[in-house]
Amino acid sequence: MIRHFISLKYFSAQELWKLVNLASDIKKNPDKYHEALDHKTVGLIFEKPSLRTKTAFFVGTEQLGGSAIYYGSDEIRLGRREKTSDVARTLSGFLDAIVLRTFSHDNVLELAQYASIPVINGLSDLLHPSQVLADIMTITEHKGDIKKLKVTYLGDGNNVCNSLIYAFSILGGNLVVATPRRYQPQKEIIEEVKMYCRISGANITISEWAQDAARDADVLYTDVWTSMGKEQEQRKRLKVFRPYQINEKILLLAKNDCMVLHCLPAHRGEEITDSVIDGNNSFVFTQAQNRLYAAKAILVYALKKNG
Ligand code: CP
Ligand code: NVA
Repeated sequence: MIRHFISLKYFSAQELWKLVNLASDIKKNPDKYHEALDHKTVGLIFEKPSLRTKTAFFVGTEQLGGSAIYYGSDEIRLGRREKTSDVARTLSGFLDAIVLRTFSHDNVLELAQYASIPVINGLSDLLHPSQVLADIMTITEHKGDIKKLKVTYLGDGNNVCNSLIYAFSILGGNLVVATPRRYQPQKEIIEEVKMYCRISGANITISEWAQDAARDADVLYTDVWTSMGKEQEQRKRLKVFRPYQINEKILLLAKNDCMVLHCLPAHRGEEITDSVIDGNNSFVFTQAQNRLYAAKAILVYALKKNG
């Protein structure tokens, strides 16, 4: 069985907790894992910019004893220079795993379909699962049992939001998502997770009301209003999203010890103010650092021997 990491929806709650616990163990005992990727080579295909994801998987691979090769957006040009299926079959003969950051989620699915090595989703327009694995780790590390928390996501119903919805619906807990009506998370995903919620007891609420969503929150989470690839919509989005900004006023509605998260990069002054992101409630750089351990856990999972 090839251990791809494409969407959190392909994992059970038990499997997701195993990954989160592995990430925590790697954080506490890095030396235990320094040969986990011995003689393994991981290819990083990034068709969009990246600071955290690229660094987490590149440094993560090397700290686990493997080596990484990076392909920027001008190199492979999936589906344009050659067919994605041909790239998959070729690279499967050289590499041990591929991390792909791309636009269409279909590219991730197609690469995985034709590769005989694990494919890790390093962000698509639809999902950002490696981010959310680190987020669950960060929340659990500092707030304990996620089932007892009110976690609120404000802003755009984007790839990060979709992956948060999968995570909470599978693991349980209360996730409130407040977005402008036209920017809600994918309807298919909201329908799909109803079944997961019945199993886990999770409550996922989708609303338009930022203030209600923020009230008594244990965690306030946001992401950019204009994701990569949507730059031409930025002016329109700036106006529509204004009520969803995490600022001091909205933070006052949340619990005093509310944890503020942002996957970064932040557009300061848009979805979050300087005073909040630099303030005492902010855990954004702890969250960013946890990307490294989550990436390592995904690599160890993907490349461990069968059995
Ligand atoms: N959060 C995140 O994925 O950051 P990068 O886009 O810098 O990788
Ligand atoms: N939603 C953002 C996440 C960046 C890490 C984007 O896709 O640009």
